[in-house]
Amino acid sequence: GEDGSAGWLRYAPLPYASSYSSIPSSIIALNNTKSSPVYTAQQELHRGIQGILGKTLSNGTSTSKDGTIIVGTAHAYQKSYGDFDEAGDIEEDGYFLSIEGRQVLILGQNERGALYGAFDYLSRLAQGQLDTVSYVSNPHAPIRWTNEWDNLDGSIERGYAGPSIFFENGFVTENTTRVAEYARLLASIRINGIIVNNVNANATLLSARNIDGLGRLADAMRPYGVQLGISLNFASPQTFGGLSTFDPLDPTVDAWWANITNQIYARVPDMAGYLVKANSEGQPGPLTFNRTLAEGANMFARAAKPHGGIIMFRAFVYDNHINETNWKADRANAAVEFFRDLDGKFDDNVVVQIKYGPIDFQVREPASPLFSTLRNTSTAIELQVTQEYLGQQTHLVYLAPLWKEILEFDLKADNRSSKVKDIVSGERFRRPLGGSAGVVNNLYAYGLLAWDPSLDAEEILQDWIRLTFGHDPKVLETITDMSMKSWPTYENYTGNLGVQTLTDILYTHFGPNPATLDNNGWGQWTRADKFSIGMDRTVKNGTANAGQYPPAVANVYENIETTPDNLLLWFHHVIYTHQLKSGKTVIQHFYDSHYEGAATAQTLVKQWESLKSNIDSERYEHVLFRQTFQAGHALVWRDSINQFYHNLSEIEDQAKRVGNH
Ligand code: GCU
Repeated sequence: GEDGSAGWLRYAPLPYASSYSSIPSSIIALNNTKSSPVYTAQQELHRGIQGILGKTLSNGTSTSKDGTIIVGTAHAYQKSYGDFDEAGDIEEDGYFLSIEGRQVLILGQNERGALYGAFDYLSRLAQGQLDTVSYVSNPHAPIRWTNEWDNLDGSIERGYAGPSIFFENGFVTENTTRVAEYARLLASIRINGIIVNNVNANATLLSARNIDGLGRLADAMRPYGVQLGISLNFASPQTFGGLSTFDPLDPTVDAWWANITNQIYARVPDMAGYLVKANSEGQPGPLTFNRTLAEGANMFARAAKPHGGIIMFRAFVYDNHINETNWKADRANAAVEFFRDLDGKFDDNVVVQIKYGPIDFQVREPASPLFSTLRNTSTAIELQVTQEYLGQQTHLVYLAPLWKEILEFDLKADNRSSKVKDIVSGERFRRPLGGSAGVVNNLYAYGLLAWDPSLDAEEILQDWIRLTFGHDPKVLETITDMSMKSWPTYENYTGNLGVQTLTDILYTHFGPNPATLDNNGWGQWTRADKFSIGMDRTVKNGTANAGQYPPAVANVYENIETTPDNLLLWFHHVIYTHQLKSGKTVIQHFYDSHYEGAATAQTLVKQWESLKSNIDSERYEHVLFRQTFQAGHALVWRDSINQFYHNLSEIEDQAKRVGNH
């Protein structure tokens, strides 16, 4: 639709808007420079209040008894109006919001914080909350970035929502209108950095023309406080720069990176930093020269340091040619094995970016044990917002409950509370940096959890529903119900008990194909045969992956009795008739879950149809199309998976649904 890009920032008129009397009448912005986020905040407040309440505010210079919104930094406010009690509590990027009748204060620790406060105020108005409040909101972690996997030719790796807005035909796009609109969405959920190109990076991004283009992108996003960063290709000095090597300890290579970094910072003085995927899935890296991953990361750290840049170095390093006949081989062990001995060897401006689980964004994985292994290294969690293995935007899967499970998971390092969220914030191991990176598409919940991981998944969802679809209680209730059961539903008709998603892993990452997981070097094995299934990751008899966790957690996973059912096949190899805690056998659980999940997928269509008269037809039809597809595809999933394991095990379904009856 015309305002389709507005997402949750629709500023739709509030019902009974005219009955609200306590709305301010003017706005004082404490910085009127056009590229300042404070100026953006002022524009946004005008636009939002006009839309939500139908009221046109004036720009004021002094406070009025008719009500004034003052927006700016706490510092600028103190200069003109004197001190206020909460000033000392506001941290970097945080803000103070006070609504008292018609007087509103929105004061950021920095300009970006002021913009976040303005968006928060508008979100409250849009949801009809005008009550008196006064609070400080601070981020849980300093790094709250997105990772776009956009290629220079305009395609997007694992993107399912159209072509790139950043690149086309090998170059940065000329027109940045949509880039600014995207930055607006990011700022509204308090994302402060964006890596604009694919982790599988193309070195021609470093051409003079593209560096100028990066400047254009950064200029478009700066008014929203969103800082640009880029992914680098490790071999660039050779493949693009013409040097004879890309050895990170070769001084000419070092000088080359310093030089190119200076060029980029000359055009983008506030660049956030670099993201690096090295020695993974065929990408070049330091191991080629017998240098460590830390030596590789630190090369970039040296180049970026004088400019205040951060290096996000990915822990997604593994050998994709491992041998399944070796019972002890395990891709899930790779990250800890590669990084364990490097703890403390990374420069201070390096952050190791860790995928939430040990393998690759599956429907269910335990938290990565690397979070508790690195104590002297800053870390960030990498989440995948785009639904690569989770239905590729044709199946409804609300991901916040999955992320919450990982963020709240307690790794119990040294028998002390060690929740993943407190490790990646830098708090648990007292690290200067930390945060999260989301491979994005579907943003709202990601941004809010990056800011405050203690938020409730259902509350985030309901805010999003009100902002996106309005205030109809039936809409709220129905979409809440559909979304909150979507992840368990998807898990039910795909891969159960921690066996992984069971989607095709060799070509499409879409649709059922359990046979692709085994008999190849990718290491996403299930070890399913006629009698048994699962990865034995115990120390006593398997790959010892359970032993990578701190003892209190390792003991839980080592022991089949204490391993939760939903991770049974992640950690243990069992016969199909092994009895779960639920009392069912593994194979009967597969059969039943697939029927249950597919049946729920049918009801999602009915639920959505019940909203036909409550939602505009464009969005109604758009979602209906997807729900209908999902319902059909869930049946395909159900029958493929059940038939596959029925053929393999030759064990009857007690309810006689599977097989030839
Ligand atoms: C997955 C995904 C790839 C991606 C990789 C990564 O394997 O399928 O497309 O490049 O993750 O995160 O680097």
